[in-house]
Amino acid sequence: MVKIKTVYVCSNCGNDSPKWLGKCPICGEWNTYVEESINTSAAKNKASDIFDSVKAKPLKIKEVVAGEDPRIDLQDEELNRVLGGGLVPGSLVLLGGEPGIGKSTLILQTVLNLKKIKTLYISGEESSRQLKMRADRINANNEDCYILCETNLEQIFVSIKNLQPDFVVIDSIQTIFTENIESSPGSVSQVRECAASILKFAKETSTPVILIGHINKEGSIAGPKVLEHIVDAVLQFDGDQHYMYRILRSIKNRFGSTAELGIYEMRQNGLREVSNPSELLLTQNHEGLSGVAIAAAIEGIRPFLIETQALVSTAAYGTPQRSATGFDIRRMNMLLAVLEKRAGFKLIQKDVFLNIAGGLRVNDPGMDLSVLSAVLSSNLDIAVERNVCMTGEVGLSGEIRPVNRIEQRILEAEKLGFNRILIPRNNLKGFTAKTNIEIIEVRKVEEAFRQLFG
Ligand code: TYD
Ligand code: MG
Repeated sequence: MVKIKTVYVCSNCGNDSPKWLGKCPICGEWNTYVEESINTSAAKNKASDIFDSVKAKPLKIKEVVAGEDPRIDLQDEELNRVLGGGLVPGSLVLLGGEPGIGKSTLILQTVLNLKKIKTLYISGEESSRQLKMRADRINANNEDCYILCETNLEQIFVSIKNLQPDFVVIDSIQTIFTENIESSPGSVSQVRECAASILKFAKETSTPVILIGHINKEGSIAGPKVLEHIVDAVLQFDGDQHYMYRILRSIKNRFGSTAELGIYEMRQNGLREVSNPSELLLTQNHEGLSGVAIAAAIEGIRPFLIETQALVSTAAYGTPQRSATGFDIRRMNMLLAVLEKRAGFKLIQKDVFLNIAGGLRVNDPGMDLSVLSAVLSSNLDIAVERNVCMTGEVGLSGEIRPVNRIEQRILEAEKLGFNRILIPRNNLKGFTAKTNIEIIEVRKVEEAFRQLFG
């Protein structure tokens, strides 16, 4: 007999309850409970049971042979690096991102460039003709790449069993459904159940699987948080629709660091890896323009030089306007207050607009000094010399605090042809490399301003 049970599931954390709740007792979110029906009697034949489960027996940890798993080289340096050195066999990776950012393009492109690896690309969103058109656009072809347009999980497992692929991609997890659950595709219980079956398949057959997932309005990966707990790695593909740069970050990675970052450029014929981001971010010739300062920043563990632009004008209304793109506005307000105290900048009379070039969002505290310099440069209408860059965190009393990875920042600035770099004092301990770039150590913002503006 088919028994249908109704439960209420929190769409934020996946907690379920027999009755509707206004506030989730687990994650504290309001209005997140949605009604879902589950078919309890059929739940026994799970789709993943097609694969004979290996009965595991407990082992002593010292008996386990660790042996570095040979990772699969994805022929894409950025993706390999973000994954921590390639794809681990049997791992389940979730790739999230806003619609239209290029998730399908990235994965299809990667799959088409893989040689001698039988891949199965399952699309629940596009038809095979659309996929072929996209492949033609990327201008890649591959003998070993199979495409399946299917949304039924049981059918997908049958195809996988017949084809025996080495690598599986599912685009997207929100379109897949299992017959065991009554609710519609994309609902919390469907997503959770499908992901769990796919995880079982990945672990038992050692086949790596990439799941593509959507992002909801709040910017987190749609479906329950449990999805993030199930998978081995969560990658997020970000970028501003109006810019061509795309950033691949890792939010969680059981097999590598989450500090890694990959940068791509969206072209007419697919995504291009950007191995030297500074060159892209510094193309404009800003000679003689005020309000521009170059920061030697670190994002993840990669150094790059990035343009900070500011515009300061007289406030037309009673309340001055503050706006920051790519930078935390509260941090900017704090920096402006430091500027008021140290450089006689009259906060109340000025509108301040700040922009980090290229649509990047940088969280490095080392950006502080360049933000202050750009604002002051615009306020004084004196340009910062073109061959100077800077790095340093600014404290509340105007002191410049040390930053991490200073060597990398200096070497990157030198590589890109800068003549001078302003860095925090006492940051250089133990740095011995011989450089041609002039290093100026500053202790307070006043000293930095004297260096820059005389
Ligand atoms: P897509 O991969 O479909 O995004 P997602 O799967 O994340 O929803 O990317 C679609 C966008 O990328 C679309 O706006 C067109 C653009 N695009 C290019 O600019 N160049 C290309 O070569 C391709 C394939 C897409
Ligand atoms: Mg897509």
